[in-house]
Amino acid sequence: MKKISENLGNNNGRLTIGGVDAVALAEKYGTPLYVMDEDLMASTAKAYTEAIEKAYGKGNGMILYASKAFCCLESCRFAKRNGLGLDVVSGGELYTALKAGFPVEKIYFHGNNKTKAELKMAMENGVGRVVVDNVTELENLGAAAAEARKTAKILFRIKPGIDAHTHNYVRTGAIDSKFGFALENGEAFEAAARAKEMKNIEIIGVHCHIGSQIFDIEPFEDAAEVMLRFMAEIKNKLGVTVKELNLGGGYGIKYVDGNDPVPYGDYIAKISVRVRKVCEKLGLSLPFILMEPGRSLVGPAGVTLYTIGGVKEIKGIRNYVSVDGGMTDNPRYALYKSDYTVVLADRVGEKPAGKYTVAGRCCESGDLIQEDVPLPEPKAGEILAVLATGAYNYSMAMNYNRVPRAPVVGLSGGVDRLWIKRESYDDLIKNDI
Ligand code: LLP
Repeated sequence: MKKISENLGNNNGRLTIGGVDAVALAEKYGTPLYVMDEDLMASTAKAYTEAIEKAYGKGNGMILYASKAFCCLESCRFAKRNGLGLDVVSGGELYTALKAGFPVEKIYFHGNNKTKAELKMAMENGVGRVVVDNVTELENLGAAAAEARKTAKILFRIKPGIDAHTHNYVRTGAIDSKFGFALENGEAFEAAARAKEMKNIEIIGVHCHIGSQIFDIEPFEDAAEVMLRFMAEIKNKLGVTVKELNLGGGYGIKYVDGNDPVPYGDYIAKISVRVRKVCEKLGLSLPFILMEPGRSLVGPAGVTLYTIGGVKEIKGIRNYVSVDGGMTDNPRYALYKSDYTVVLADRVGEKPAGKYTVAGRCCESGDLIQEDVPLPEPKAGEILAVLATGAYNYSMAMNYNRVPRAPVVGLSGGVDRLWIKRESYDDLIKNDI
């Protein structure tokens, strides 16, 4: 397995992203700056699409981009250009997709507490599928569909009873989740029975999502089997044939050396073997298969560039290197203690001089990007890069301490293009009265 630093472009020790010099990008756009390598996103999308077609047959599967990982007009256009469907999880994500001209029939609307207004918006705009989370929502959706004189095509969000974590998983406890219908207590079956009776509702499929940043294949295979068994149950007991099986997202990526994701093709092929076998055993015809990656489509394509402010050496305790961003552009370390690889953009590969804790600029001790990373002696004014920040960074960014959100630049064919402008101070007060 290649080291993460070997995947980087490196021109005489200077970091390149998509063939473009990182320091030059920082000079042109300022820092903090998110950079997205669109060519890498496109090649990942292609690998996914080819793998699902190979595993299930042409036209019998679709990759949905889970837009929560990074949602903006340009990411929706990217999904459209690359033939992906889209998972949206709020009125805001749906609005962005519609404004980007995303084909509405390929939008899957998720969420555990969609408001009546959101359901109305989905119905009026002809959203392809609504993934129903609970019975109240089912009733509200029925009403919204009737009002819009439409039929809502639905999937049920199911808790398959498999709680996956990166290196281990347990089969208990998954019933204790705010998402979806449980199988164990019969609520999923009851919801299907209710939906079957509803006039403006058409049952199309079932959906599950077992977790995120997962490296094992087995939990995905097991989840697929549980879902197929539920499909067989509602076919046999209710006479309802479910056409779509959406297996969710969750494929892990390499943040640091030691994270070794399985290639997408292998993942998908292996799961498809189980899906086919179980279908045969249960007498089901092969459903249309959907997979919903977010992190793996955009995560590795992102790099965040910061300017180093100062370095604080607390003898015998710790060295801090302060950057001009932090938890406001990447709250993942503060929230989850997530691993990241950190490099100095103009001295990649130089021997480390010590360990440094990368600190953000918020009035918050926990505002750290990473603790104790090996770096050459950092200097004020240098560009520090954090790798694999394409997923759940911009989309989880915030304005704590009234820090304006950083801009996003996309790279394709070695050409840089602004996707999202830097927020201004006026943007910060635009809704203040
Ligand atoms: N589908 C559904 C229904 C989901 O809930 C998610 C992620 C995905 C697909 C995409 O999963 P992915 O392929 O990205 O793992 N903020 C957290 C991640 C939350 C994921 C929520 N759901 C983080 O920064 O790690």
